[in-house]
Amino acid sequence: MADTRAHAGELAREAIARGDVTGWFDTLYRESERDGFRISWVDLAPNPYLVDWLAAHASAEHASAARGRALVVGCGYGDDAELLAQRGFDVLAFDVSPAAVARCHSRFPGSAVEYAVADVLTPPAEWAGAFDFVFEAYTVQVLPGAARRACARSIAATVAPGGILLAVARSRREEDAEGLMPWPLTRAELDEFRAPGLALAKLLEVVEPGDPPVPRFVAEFRRA
Ligand SMILES: C[S@@+](CC[C@H](N)C(=O)[O-])C[C@H]1O[C@@H](n2cnc3c(N)ncnc32)[C@H](O)[C@@H]1O
Repeated sequence: MADTRAHAGELAREAIARGDVTGWFDTLYRESERDGFRISWVDLAPNPYLVDWLAAHASAEHASAARGRALVVGCGYGDDAELLAQRGFDVLAFDVSPAAVARCHSRFPGSAVEYAVADVLTPPAEWAGAFDFVFEAYTVQVLPGAARRACARSIAATVAPGGILLAVARSRREEDAEGLMPWPLTRAELDEFRAPGLALAKLLEVVEPGDPPVPRFVAEFRRA
């Protein structure tokens, strides 16, 4: 396929026009496996900002072998979840796409990670306040309209007292055009993660080189 990002954008546009904001992800994963093209966000490696965060927190407050329960949102093909399991977390990772979750199972047979098909917009009640570390990369930005705010708030609600949410997203200035999917987050949208009682503990605003360069938020939130 010549332009897989444009194809994903077209699937998104058609699904959203039908009022289905999540149905296109599984279509894209299934097509990718059937036709052998790479989805733009799939790099089969852990997120570098998660790697950095874990390295920075390797010795101090998280020195113990058992680091608690972790949740990986929109886990895709599972690399972030596997890294967290290797680092001592008890990990639940989920995606709305059954095809993506099936691929996690086939890539990591015997994994310690619990993989599940679930929609972050309608999370199981038992996830509320249940996770010591929550990792979200690039899920809010692939959702449109009101689903973005609902997604951020739903993710934040899973963080346990004393827990941490690390969120990574493309960013844009308020005055910039929304652009094409993936739609970068404004600072106001990032602040939606704070709504259910989280505080912003650290915010990196990075610009990755490229043509064009890609600005991102890397935000650490904590619940008191
Ligand atoms: C841009 S991809 C990022 C995947 C992975 N987090 C990464 O960084 O490589 C967004 C992922 O979120 C999943 N997703 C989208 N909407 C979701 C929802 N409402 N609930 C759960 N997963 C969702 C998609 O299927 C896709 O795997």
